Amino acid sequence: MKDILTNSYNKSSSNYDEQFKELQWKKYNALDDFFQVKKRKMFLDAGAGTGLLYEYLNKKYPAWCSFYNGVDISPGMIREGQKKSIPHLSIMDIEELNYPHNYFDYVFSFTVIGLLDQSVNSALTEINRVLKKEGILVFSILKKNVTNNIYEEIGNTNFSLLNTFDHGQDFFFLCKNIKK
Ligand SMILES: C[S@@+](CC[C@H](N)C(=O)[O-])C[C@H]1O[C@@H](n2cnc3c(N)ncnc32)[C@H](O)[C@@H]1O
Repeated sequence: MKDILTNSYNKSSSNYDEQFKELQWKKYNALDDFFQVKKRKMFLDAGAGTGLLYEYLNKKYPAWCSFYNGVDISPGMIREGQKKSIPHLSIMDIEELNYPHNYFDYVFSFTVIGLLDQSVNSALTEINRVLKKEGILVFSILKKNVTNNIYEEIGNTNFSLLNTFDHGQDFFFLCKNIKK
């Protein structure tokens, strides 16, 4: 399943921005209040794709960019991002993050968690590990992919659900890391 997904993003990587940039930017818009109000700190773009979030921040909130780290399982997607000179992009599976414990203050993940199927628990557990205590995870899932299972997984993985909201095609989850 993971290989199929990775291959499919590898294949479509060169057309991804043309097809999805506008749509993804609208999703980032949903976090404008967050980017305006929250203190800028180290963050991870989990399933960063071609680094569209970096480009968005560079245009609207450039001070956030020096705290950017993006990872994606698809070498093709990362290559496209690197062609645009987006820094700190690495090939990595969000279920096996090569970062120390308690490293990030925030993790953002747009339209990724809903693709993971059976692996949601291990991805959230791994994100929890690299997030600081009380760190914030924000992720979006296409509404059509939201199931009750996601609420269970949030509860099972040391996150407390602070807020949810509806935005375009997506449903957003804002969670706090409540590990001891
Ligand atoms: C719909 S795209 C979204 C990309 C990016 N978040 C954006 O806003 O444009 C989903 C991305 O998730 C990545 N992905 C899927 N499973 C992953 C995993 N286990 N670890 C890292 N990235 C993954 C895919 O390779 C793809 O680039």
